[in-house]
Amino acid sequence: MGEEKGGIATRTTLAITMKFFIRTFGCQMNQADSACLSGRLIEAGHQNTEDPEEAQVIIFNTCSVRQHAEERLFQNLNALRPLKKKRPELIIGLIGCIPALRRETLFRSFPHLNFLAGPENLDTVPDLISRSKNGAQIAVFDSKLPPHLTSPTRGKESCGVVSPARGEEGGVNVSAFLPIITGCDNFCSYCVVPFTRGREKSRPTGEILEEAERMVANGVKEIILLGQNVNSYQETANKNKGIGFPELLSRIAGLSGILRLGFMTSHPKDVSPKLFKVIAAHSNIYRHLHLPLQSGSDSILKAMHRGYTAAHYRQRIKEVREIIPGLALTSDIIVGFPGETEDDFKKTLSVIAETKFDDLFAFKYSDRPKTKAEELGGKIPEKTKEDRLARLWKLQDGISLKKNLETKGKTFEVLLLTESRKRPGFLLGKAENEKKILVPGNAKLVGSLIQVQVTSVDRRLLYGVALEQTA
Ligand code: 5AD
Ligand code: SF4
Repeated sequence: MGEEKGGIATRTTLAITMKFFIRTFGCQMNQADSACLSGRLIEAGHQNTEDPEEAQVIIFNTCSVRQHAEERLFQNLNALRPLKKKRPELIIGLIGCIPALRRETLFRSFPHLNFLAGPENLDTVPDLISRSKNGAQIAVFDSKLPPHLTSPTRGKESCGVVSPARGEEGGVNVSAFLPIITGCDNFCSYCVVPFTRGREKSRPTGEILEEAERMVANGVKEIILLGQNVNSYQETANKNKGIGFPELLSRIAGLSGILRLGFMTSHPKDVSPKLFKVIAAHSNIYRHLHLPLQSGSDSILKAMHRGYTAAHYRQRIKEVREIIPGLALTSDIIVGFPGETEDDFKKTLSVIAETKFDDLFAFKYSDRPKTKAEELGGKIPEKTKEDRLARLWKLQDGISLKKNLETKGKTFEVLLLTESRKRPGFLLGKAENEKKILVPGNAKLVGSLIQVQVTSVDRRLLYGVALEQTA
């Protein structure tokens, strides 16, 4: 169904070439979707531009996971009003999670918008652009896979290949995101994702393997598998029934030419020693697990509908550290979930102190429409959330710095991914445990594996010198 529509859209838009600008907010899945859409539009005869001033079509790919993300998007959207006034023929579209959540009401608040499409309807965008030319306002929301997850006819080189390691000025993209499963069935009580990205849908294994091979043929060295919950991956095509995430990961790691393989995000209720053993068995899989804890208090975890206890989480950490030496561990935490007491929060701090994560993503709880948590009493004042977040960072900053200091003098095998934007003459790479490391070096080395000795560190980064090239 998606490919039919995509095909028709491609033909109808070929006639007029337009310059388009896409800005991406939010998660890696959005980045992968934007890269795919960009490829689609180029295939349809349009041209990409990095300059919104010269664009005839401006598209924002949006995130609704926290209220702050929505507010930021709305500010950016308001900033386009003068441009639209100056150039009424400018086409402005919103895609992704905010239109999926807010739907047509957006046209009332932002009359300068031309089209809206949910994350599952990106294949309709070429057609929406074409139909927006007469000033119409159009919205498409229905539940099916986004184009890069359905269509065997999708652009061979257009999808999946995105930064953080985008080769600049014609350089090679050595890093790519590869979505393997979209949507989420977990319905954590705070989370809007099941309402914006719909139910879980796994891509056929064969299609994923083919895409990984295509990426490698195009010069990609690092692939990051994406899914809201990668551990729920389950092959659905009859032929290969039974393939779950550990098996899929093992098969991709076995393809030749993949120097590094990563994945995110995992769910603590679904990870198992089977997965950890696959990681341990393949030297090209990053020794890194991102395992969101959210809270260290059992009563809060229950109210969050997370499906595990703090003891279960600790047990998984113990197992994974035993099976994978040198593992880096990161996590997500929410502070100030409704009803969170000082005692609950202290339980979160003690899991953090005990586990010693390499780093965290920590957020203040944010009410989201349609979620169960929105209806809960016991909302925590903003000031308390801020205080708790500050206390959390004070603890974690110390742990992160200490962990990084432990690497000083050690040697890692580093995949060089891109030139540093901030430090000319430096390359950004990742060690075997996916920690980022800056190394002085020539851009020609991007894509190669080198031995790097860590010479200094700060809380966020390692700095090193190249010893020798290994691949
Ligand atoms: N408020 C705060 N943080 C949230 N997250 C998801 N929903 C919310 C919310 N309503 C966080 C979780 C998740 C990460 C991607 O975003 O920690 O793991
Ligand atoms: Fe949201 Fe929970 Fe699904 Fe993650 S697992 S996307 S937090 S509902």
